[in-house]
Parts: sequence; structure tokens; C-alpha cells
Amino acid sequence: MEIKLNLGAVAPSLADVVVMGTFCSTEKKKSKEVKVPALSGWPKDCKDTFLSLGAAKNFTGDKDSQMSFDWQGQRVLVLGLGNKADYDFEALRRTAATLMMSLKLTTEKIAITMDHFVAKGNLENSCAIFAEGLLMASYEFDKYLSQKKTLKTKTIYFDSKAKKTGAKKVQKAIDDALIVAESINVARDFVNEPPNVLNSETYAKEVLKDVKNIKGVKTKVLGKAELKKHKMGMFLSVNAGSAFEPQLVHLTYTPSKATKNTKHIAFVGKGLTFDTGGYSLKPGASMVNMKFDMAGSATVYGAFRAIAMLGLPVKVSCFLGMTDNAINSLATMPDSIVTAMNGKTVEILNTDAEGRLVLGDVLTYASEQKPDAIIDAATLTGACLVALGTEVCGLMGNDKKLIDSLKKAAAHTDEYIWELPIMKEWRDDMKSNIADLKNIGSNRWAGTPKAAAFLENFVGEDIAWAHLDIAGCGEGQAHLPYCPNKGASGIMVRTLVELVKATK
Ligand code: BES
Ligand code: ZN
Ligand code: ZN
Repeated sequence: MEIKLNLGAVAPSLADVVVMGTFCSTEKKKSKEVKVPALSGWPKDCKDTFLSLGAAKNFTGDKDSQMSFDWQGQRVLVLGLGNKADYDFEALRRTAATLMMSLKLTTEKIAITMDHFVAKGNLENSCAIFAEGLLMASYEFDKYLSQKKTLKTKTIYFDSKAKKTGAKKVQKAIDDALIVAESINVARDFVNEPPNVLNSETYAKEVLKDVKNIKGVKTKVLGKAELKKHKMGMFLSVNAGSAFEPQLVHLTYTPSKATKNTKHIAFVGKGLTFDTGGYSLKPGASMVNMKFDMAGSATVYGAFRAIAMLGLPVKVSCFLGMTDNAINSLATMPDSIVTAMNGKTVEILNTDAEGRLVLGDVLTYASEQKPDAIIDAATLTGACLVALGTEVCGLMGNDKKLIDSLKKAAAHTDEYIWELPIMKEWRDDMKSNIADLKNIGSNRWAGTPKAAAFLENFVGEDIAWAHLDIAGCGEGQAHLPYCPNKGASGIMVRTLVELVKATK
């Protein structure tokens, strides 16, 4: 799929479908207010053709309405954009995605009359977000289908009357947006891969393969022997019943013009390629879909990949803790007490609370790099769905400034995030009487921030840290046309990229 920017356009580019948009406005007819399409900025003869059609009488430009007709030998598809006052960048992103969903399997060349879709009077951002919505919605996981859902769309023209002089900037904004959307699709592919194909070893290999040609990136992978050397007793305990080696993938992106003042952000991701629950076995129905328990690692990897490809002027490290949580005779038994990399002892009362054990050691390892901030992402608790539903990302941490910048980044990218507190009582509840900590709270309340209260113990002193619980939003965002109805969503990649973009 290629996007061709066409500024200084006097007419729509030649395509299979020309896409126009119209807001819905109101008109007084016989002292009654009636809804009508605004049709502002339409070529006069196109408008006349449209208005002469019988079907146009019922088309008001309401949100999500569509109509098509022929004009000058071209097929025109009209998208209703609803009330102009409600139209913003998210509405634009959704419009682009809905369009892609309806044309991607049938239409090769599409010409967008971009001036009809500009939000907030900003052509550059509007083009970028339109491109982002298109590429995110083009995603299909059809690898295992005999009948592929092959993308038919090859060329999309962004036609605008705006002066050609702005082309370079707009083109750059589009290219950057496409890098982020492509990285989201890469992250989705990892998550959707089944556990008989994607295990810790194949996952680590595929990440290294994907990251190989990106400028400024260094890679390192720690296996079982290295984890033992670093005394990562928590991480190893989760891997104890596995047929595969644990893998800690450590990626570093250093910008080309890095100085000693360059900020350094570390990402940490939960990469459970499958979570059976271990000896605290999940019931059958809750185990299905636990291939998705590595979505945190795929999310931070997607963001890392985009940041490095964009060449952003911030140093970013990325730590992916990969293993499955499986059972054999060596698997960790409940009541076990293990020692974490930072020396703290942990009583494992539930082997299904494994994500925090992996993340805890990876957080200690990441802290050794002395980053300015650490952000982890994890499908950590079912309780997050109870608290915030399937649409909202849980946000916790130890640093108000970092939390506020994540909220700001999420607002900027239109992703839903909500902060939960970490109370002293919950920190206390994570203490054990025979070890320093235990891996579950003493009751089921506040499961999400109690997990965060556990993680906090493994963050190096004076390091700003934030935790994203994506157990809900990591998959199946059916309300968003730019996410597939089922499977990995890729939500929070854009927020993390935006956070780094905004880091000074
Ligand atoms: N991977 C799960 C969390 C999860 C559950 C994500 C459902 C998405 C949907 C995690 O490892 C887990 O099992 N957590 C337990 C913690 C409990 C034992 C304290 C949970 O949420 O039930
Ligand atoms: Zn679990
Ligand atoms: Zn898990």
C-alpha cells in the first residue's frame, strides 16, 4: 500500500474510487430545521451531479453514512462526517479506518479529497492521522488461512488544493505515521502467533531478525545460563517447568547525535508466550487465548522499533522477558520461596501470578542501566478488566511527572488510560511473614495496583517508573475501526512513541 501526496490538486487523481466527505448541517425548510449535507469545498459540477440524484435527498451527511454515485466517469464515494463541531483527529482516524475496511479487499486505487477531511484546520496532522488509520485498518492475520484476505489496495492518493510548497513537511508526517502504524502491525503479528509456533526461543529470534537493519540499534540476548549468573531467581522460577530457554532480549537504540545530556528511557515488557497458570492451573476457559500474555513485550517492542526507525533524539533501551508458564515435574510449586536478582525473597503463593515475577527481575536488570525513566507494559491482571473494562489501559507508578506525561501522550494519541493509586496498605499486603514479599495479596481486592505495589520493589532507587496494565486493551478493541475485532490491538504503541517524541 503506497500513499501518494498530491498537493496543488485541481481535480481528484484518477482512481477506481474517489472519496469525498461532507459534514451534516441544518437548514430551515418551511420553518422546520432539517439536516442537509454541507458539501463545502466540492467541485461545483460534482455538487450539481450529486444534488440531481434522487438518492441524495435522503443523504444528510450523518456520521458513518455513505453514498456513492458516478461523476465524470469516476466512482465517487461520499462519507458523512456528522456534526462539524464534533469532528476531531480521532473522528478522522476512525473515518480513514472505516474507509479502508470497506475498500481493502476490492479496490486498487483510491483518491481521497483530503480537504474534505481536515480536522482542526491542520492538513499536515490530518494527512498523517489519515495514513495511520488506513494502515492500521489494512491489517489482517491471514497467515494460517487457506483463503488469504489479500490486500487489493495498492495506491492511495491524498489530493489537496493546498500549496505544493508544503509538500515536504506533509510527506514527512505521513512517512512517520506509516512507520508507527507498520510497527503496530508487527507487534500484532507477534501477539497473534500461536504458542506452538511462538515460544521464547523463536520469539527472541524473530525480534532480532526484525530489528537487524535498524540504524543505531544494538542487541543482546540472555539465556538460562546468563539469568542464573545474574541470580534472577524469580524469572527462572517461572521458566522452571518450560521446555524452552527463558530469553531476556535487551535492545538499545542510541540516536546518532547522542550527548551526555541525551535522555534515556527504558521499556520493559512481559513476554509470556503462554500462561497456563502453572501448578495454580487456570481453568480451561480462562486458559484459552493466553498466547496473548506476551502482548506487553510486543507493545514495547513495537514502540521501540518505531522510535529507532524515526531516529528520535532519545536513547531508548528495551527489555523483553520471554518464557512460557508451563508445567512439568520441575515446575515451581506454590509455597516455594525464591530470591530475586535484587536479593529480596519472595513467597510464591500462586504460580499464576507469574508476570510480576518475570517483570520484577527484568526491572532490576533494566535499573542497572540507570535510565531516567522505566515504563513497563504487561497483561498483568484480570482485575484490570474488572476495574477499567476492556477498553482502558491501567496506569500506575512512582513518579507524578512521568505519569502525567503518559496521560498527556495518551490524550494526544486518543488512547484511553486511567491512573490507579498504589496505597501504603496494599504495599503492606504484599509482604509475607516468612519472606520479604509474597506474589499475591491476601484477598482479591485491588488486584491491579497490588501487582504494581509488588513490582515497585524491583525498581532501582530514584528511578521514575510507570506500569501499564494492558490486560484489557491489548486485544479485541471492536469499538475501534482501526483495530481488528478480535486478536491483538496494538494499543499503547502510539502512546509510548508519543511520550518519547515529547521527551526533551
Ligand atoms: N496473564 C494473567 C492476567 C490476565 C488475565 C490477562 C486475564 C488477561 C486476561 C496473569 O498472569 C494472571 O494470571 N494473573 C492472575 C493474578 C492472580 C493470581 C493474583 C489473575 O489476574 O487472576
Ligand atoms: Zn498468570
Ligand atoms: Zn500471565
